[in-house]
Amino acid sequence: MSRELGLSRAAVWKKIETLRGKGFAVEAVPAKGYRLTGAPEFSLEELETLIEGEVGKNIVFLGKADSTNDLAMRSASEGAPHGTVFIADSQTGGKGRLGRTWVSPAGVNIYMSVILRPELSPREATLLTLLSSVACATALRRTTGLEVSIKWPNDLMAGGRKLGGILLEMRSEPDRVLYAVVGIGININMKRNALPDIVRPIATSLMEETGKKHRRTPIAAEILNEIENMLKTLERKGRGRILSLWRELSSTLGKEVVVTAGDETLRGTATDIDDEGRLILKTKTGILTISAGDLTHLR
Ligand code: BTN
Repeated sequence: MSRELGLSRAAVWKKIETLRGKGFAVEAVPAKGYRLTGAPEFSLEELETLIEGEVGKNIVFLGKADSTNDLAMRSASEGAPHGTVFIADSQTGGKGRLGRTWVSPAGVNIYMSVILRPELSPREATLLTLLSSVACATALRRTTGLEVSIKWPNDLMAGGRKLGGILLEMRSEPDRVLYAVVGIGININMKRNALPDIVRPIATSLMEETGKKHRRTPIAAEILNEIENMLKTLERKGRGRILSLWRELSSTLGKEVVVTAGDETLRGTATDIDDEGRLILKTKTGILTISAGDLTHLR
């Protein structure tokens, strides 16, 4: 081990002690070396070994943050590179879409924000939320086997309830996005009864849906690797491919829905999304295109 790493035996031992201090179980095997026999459920050290590309190459891992999106936006404004990720075990000011609060207790869920510097115009930026929701749904399906779907615009759903969501923030010039932050919140091992009364009936977690606990590290790594993969798909195959992947994973299309957008409540059939991710709604009075709002599936 020391030969391979170019370190003295004492230096290897010191690193092993550091890992033990962080919750890794490492057995010493006489005359052979060390063997890893257990890893913490969520750690930067393991996460770094699982990252395959640019997204997640640089990770800031914190016990507590106000909001990882706020940290990422600030860091991006100071020049942090594409692919930098902020992860927190808990948030004191977690933000959801439409000015809502994102419940962010410690030890159970994933809260992370990814800085992206894409070559897109501000109008095209919704593609980033679409591709991120596709990446999250794909990664969750692959790591858990659960049939995770996407409710327009980017809610991650399982068993008819919300499992997670995405909050996109960005800074742009009139013709180009300077940087964007994709904030991802996913309920992993949270009990439903830990949720506030108003969201309890509509929210869930991976543990509630599968009846067992899940390790957060491999799930977070899979999501980051899948975002990388989707960015490459956008670059190589264009937006059409992202839109069709979103359509395949969507549980909204074809459904009777109610959408609240501003003061208006609209009812109709969700027929499709357009090139910019806007919802096409067929109502009794005609076809409407909706760019943002709160949507409920009726049946
Ligand atoms: C939604 O309302 O569906 C979006 C929720 C996004 C929550 C995540 S948690 C990590 C990141 N930091 C925040 O403050 N919000 C996002």
